[in-house]
Order: sequence, then C-alpha cells, then structure tokens
Amino acid sequence: MNAPATANKRRPRTGEIVVEAQDLKRHYDVGGGFFGEKGLVKALDGVSFSLEAGRTLAVVGESGCGKSTLARLVTMIEEPTDGLLKIDGQPVTQSTAELRRKMQIVFQNPYGSLNPRQKIGAILEEPLVINTSDNAATRRAKAINMMERVGLRAEHYERYPHMFSGGQRQRIAIARALMLNPKILVLDEPVSALDVSIQAQVLNILMDLQAELGLAYLFISHDLSVVRHLADEIMVMYLGKPVETGPSEEVFNHPRHPYTAALLSATPVADPFHEKNRIRLEGELPSPLDPPKGCAFNPRCWRADATCRDRQPALIDEGLQSHACFHPLPVEGGATE
Ligand SMILES: Nc1ncnc2c1ncn2[C@@H]1O[C@H](COP(=O)(O)OP(=O)(O)OP(=O)(O)O)[C@@H](O)[C@H]1O
Ligand SMILES: [Mg+2]
Repeated sequence: MNAPATANKRRPRTGEIVVEAQDLKRHYDVGGGFFGEKGLVKALDGVSFSLEAGRTLAVVGESGCGKSTLARLVTMIEEPTDGLLKIDGQPVTQSTAELRRKMQIVFQNPYGSLNPRQKIGAILEEPLVINTSDNAATRRAKAINMMERVGLRAEHYERYPHMFSGGQRQRIAIARALMLNPKILVLDEPVSALDVSIQAQVLNILMDLQAELGLAYLFISHDLSVVRHLADEIMVMYLGKPVETGPSEEVFNHPRHPYTAALLSATPVADPFHEKNRIRLEGELPSPLDPPKGCAFNPRCWRADATCRDRQPALIDEGLQSHACFHPLPVEGGATE
C-alpha cells in the first residue's frame, strides 16, 4: 500500500487528550467447564494509554489477546473490573447519552451491522431521530452530506444494504457512526472482512475523514500491515497486556519485544532479503484460563531463559518506546544472537 496523499493534510496537533485509560482491567468469572471447574479469564489485565484528538492509536495482537474487550470498555458497552477511564476529560462512572455521542464504534462485519430492512437514508438518520430535534429535511440533508463524505452517491439514499458491496457497507457503517459528530471512533478490525483491494479505499476514506474532522481513532487490527500508514502510536498486546508501545515509526523500524518482531516478520514485505531473517511464530496463544508462569510469551520465545520462565516483566520505558521484556532486541541492527 502506498503512503496516502492525506498523510500531510492533517490538522496541527492540539495536545487535547480525548481518551485516557489507566490500568484498565476486565476479568471474567467462567465456570462449568467439562469438570465444572471455575476459572478467571483476565481478558484485559492492566492497559494504560492516552489518545489525542486527531490522532490514531493502533492496538495490535493475535486473536484472543483482548482487543475487542478493550473496545467494549472504551465504548462503554461493558464496565471495567478495575482501572480508570476518562473520555474527553471526564471520568466515566456510567455511560451517559452525552458521553456515548462523543464515542462511536465501527465493527468488523459490515454484513451483520446494518439492518437489512432499513434503507440507507433511514439507517443514517436513526441516530438523529433518537438524539436530536432535527426535522425531516435537515436529517435528509445531513445524511446525504455524510454519504458524499464517505464516497457514496445521493441516489444510494433509497437503497437497502443488500444492494451494496462489503466495502460500500463498511462506508455506510462509518457514515452512521459519524452522524452525531463524535470526537472518537473505535474501529474494531474495520477492514479485516474486506478484500485487500478494497481495504486501501476504506483506509483512505478514514484518513481523509480524520484530517477533515479532527477525529481520534482507536484502531484495532490483528494485522500490522493494515495500520502502518494510519497509526501514530502502536500498542502491541499479548494475553490481555501491552507488551510494546511507542510511535508507529519506532515500533515498525526497531521493534524491541520479540513478539512485535515476530508479528512484523509475519507481515509480507517487499524486500526479498528480509525472508532469510524471518521469524516464525510457533505455537498458539496460551489459554487465558491457564497462563504460563513468568512472561506469558516465554513458551513461544526464542530469547526466553530461566528468568522469563519465572518472573513477569513489567512495562518499562526506554526512549520513546515501552516494552515488557527481560531480553529486548537491540535498537540497532537486525542480528540478535
Ligand atoms: N464474556 C466473556 N466471558 C468469558 N471470556 C471472555 C468474554 N469475552 C471475551 N472473553 C475472552 O477474553 C479473551 C479476549 O477476547 P477478545 O474478544 O477481547 O479478543 P480479540 O483480541 O478481540 O480477538 P479477535 O482477534 O479474535 O477478535 C479471549 O480469551 C476470550 O475468550
Ligand atoms: Mg476481536
């Protein structure tokens, strides 16, 4: 994917923090397995970050690492078990209509998220009907304006979701999310269900919208290559915890945590010489019901030693990045052993 032209069209930074999370946790009591044993799933186990207006934080990691759990907490669909969440400077103690307007979510599946019996116009106007006193003519004008912003045409107003392609449906979902002028969009794998050729179009629209409207994005993806041109900051998660965070360029160019390096190595690159350094990520994410002792990544890590099998590394800052690893990769050079 080429770097989009919109990259430098962005608004100047304001420094305004629109989402702040401190040590957010979500644990689930699960019981009644085969033998009726009880357990605790630490789906999210201590996540902190701040997200600035107009900027993008990408949350990356394998299936089951807690990305959607984080999305549900940040969008107030679920409450955290512990930790502090602030939206637009306000601590969230309960989900209010005012807070919900500021924060919208776009899900992965563009087929499941739109009511098949509603026309596009009605889908887009529904949030206005519920939350505003706009009259029909105003609602229609706002819906058509938003359709144009996401690259749909006015004549699509009268059509039903089944008449659209996956990429167009995802644009409709994005348009609907923007109808009440939110400050923040949580995008949970927004292009993962789309063909690769369509992904870039949707990502470009998202970047244009961000530049125009100053939106903050919490962009969730299992695929690092998708977030490369879009993210300002990256947070890599493993089994409910961040293992590496930092500015996107730093994380891509100098991954410090072996897990980040392994994820990057699994991402297709144009450089054929890269192949010989390829790290193969063996095995699967361990069960969150029975996490390994020590560093959660140690059973899959080629750098792990006795310390890693015994103790849990804390997230420590080094330069602009933070990593939770006893044996981080060196900043310079690729060879590590
Ligand atoms: N309501 C729940 N009850 C029990 N366990 C849950 C619940 N919701 C999520 N989990 C568990 O929490 C962990 C994190 O799930 P989550 O859906 O957040 O992962 P994810 O990173 O979004 O994965 P994917 O990439 O597959 O969407 C998983 O082990 C999941 O099984
Ligand atoms: Mg998910």
